[in-house]
Amino acid sequence: MAAQNLQSVPAELTPEEDAAGQAHFDRIIAEDSRIEPRDWMPAAYRKTLLRQVSQHAHSEIIGMQPEANWISRAPSLKRKAILMAKVQDEAGHGLYLYSAAETLGQSRDKMMDDLIAGKARYSSIFNYPALTWADMGAIGWLVDGAAICNQVPLCRASYGPYGRAMVRICKEESFHQRQGFEILLELSNGTPEQKQMAQDAVNRWYAPALMMFGPPDDDSPNSKQSMAWNIKRFSNDELRSRFVGMMVEQVRVLGLTLPDDQIRFNEDTRKWEHGPLDWDEFHEVLAGRGPCNAQRLERRRAAHDDGAWVREAAAAYADKQRAKQSAKQQKEYAA
Ligand SMILES: [Fe+2]
Ligand SMILES: [Fe+2]
Repeated sequence: MAAQNLQSVPAELTPEEDAAGQAHFDRIIAEDSRIEPRDWMPAAYRKTLLRQVSQHAHSEIIGMQPEANWISRAPSLKRKAILMAKVQDEAGHGLYLYSAAETLGQSRDKMMDDLIAGKARYSSIFNYPALTWADMGAIGWLVDGAAICNQVPLCRASYGPYGRAMVRICKEESFHQRQGFEILLELSNGTPEQKQMAQDAVNRWYAPALMMFGPPDDDSPNSKQSMAWNIKRFSNDELRSRFVGMMVEQVRVLGLTLPDDQIRFNEDTRKWEHGPLDWDEFHEVLAGRGPCNAQRLERRRAAHDDGAWVREAAAAYADKQRAKQSAKQQKEYAA
């Protein structure tokens, strides 16, 4: 079904056509305009984007799991409705992003196969467990907050379908962050036990959220090329520093603290600095050895199997519609 939606991957071109394509591509990038699916693009640009957009799509749908676990345990009907809407938004983000990735020439089926076979990556943050209700607050505030910081600049990414998908995603992410903040605010102003629960959740999600921006700049070999192609606009460390600055302000309003006593504003560089992060842990989680990696993939596989009948029914319906359409056209030609 998905394969029929694919944009065609360019056929073999002559060296002259390639050179003209490269010149056009370079001009578009220099003008800071947009590359569209049918434009010529360097193979490495296509590959980089396909990896980034598909990983991003996988993160959205795997990211539904830690929160979906709490829908049935939300403390009120209102909280349940809000959380359900939020988790549903994440499914929608996955949909926009898989669609954007398909325009680069890979079917959604293939991307999904890679994910459930454990061959594709997704954000390491979703391999941590959500232990208490306060984690819904910390995830919304810190994880969606970090996602916004990362994603707002991606609205200007040079690849059209990706940038346009990000515009809508960012609008929804800001609602997600506010709902997380509001959960923490209420807990923080509740009983001492509730406040402690909120603080504990912030303590556990703070460092993994900071690591969402990716490895430090000197250990991020692909960043430079992505910035030259106008996919990325700011380096990992730059975005991380901005995020810390935002959180420092907001945590005061929450009446909580960040578990990092080395946060400071460097007057010389005009940047926020934070304490050391455990990059060994980051690489371990990314390599599949985090607390919930196996569980997340297992759940994704089960959901994929459970949904097989829906995909089959949709494909059968699409076939029927197509047959009807072509019969109608034949009739019209004959008339
Ligand atoms: Fe999202
Ligand atoms: Fe979100």
